[in-house]
Amino acid sequence: MLTEKTIALIKATLPVMQEHGEAIAAKTYEILFKHYPQTHPLFSKAPANQPKILARSVILYSEHLDNLDMINNVLDKIAQKHVSADVHPGHYPMFGHSFIQAMREVLGKSVDEEVIMAWKEAYFYFAELLIQREQALANPKQTQQAAEIR
Ligand code: HEM
Repeated sequence: MLTEKTIALIKATLPVMQEHGEAIAAKTYEILFKHYPQTHPLFSKAPANQPKILARSVILYSEHLDNLDMINNVLDKIAQKHVSADVHPGHYPMFGHSFIQAMREVLGKSVDEEVIMAWKEAYFYFAELLIQREQALANPKQTQQAAEIR
C-alpha cells in the first residue's frame, strides 16, 4: 500500500502533471527507446498519440490513488493491451527508470527530490497492479490454481 504521505505528495503535484504530463510521457518514450532499444518493437502498432494516452492514464491513476477500484476497467484495458503487445514484468523497471528520468528532465529544479521519490513509489505500485492483471490474463489457469492453494 502507498503511504498517506505519498498519496498527499502525488495529489499536490497533480496540477504540474496536468500541465507537463504529455511532455514527460513523450520524454519517457525517448529515454526508453534510447536506453532500452529492445522495447521499441513492442510499440510497432502504437498510435501516434501514445504519449497523450500514457499521460492521461497517469493523471487518472493519480486522481484515484485513494480509491483505485474506481478505475478497475481502465487498468483491465491497459493490461489487455500490454498482454497482446507482449509486455513482460521485466520491462517495468526500464519504463520506470525512463519515466522518473523524464520527470527530472522536464520539471528540472521546480520539483524536489521528495516528490520524485513519491512518484517513484507510486509508479511501482501502479506497475505491480498491472503486472498482476497481466499475469492473470496470460496464465488464467495457473493464477486460478495459485489462488486455490492459498
Ligand atoms: C505503469 C506503467 C505503465 C502505464 C501507466 C502504461 C499505460 C499504457 C496505456 C494507457 C496504454 C494504452 C491502452 C489502450 O490503448 O487502451 C498502453 C499501451 C501499451 N503499453 Fe503501456 N503502460 C505502462 C507500462 C508499460 C511498459 C513497461 C511497457 C513495455 C516496455 C509498455 C508498453 C506498451 C505497449 C507496447 C502498448 C500498446 C501500444 C499499442 O499497440 O496500442 N507499457 N500502456
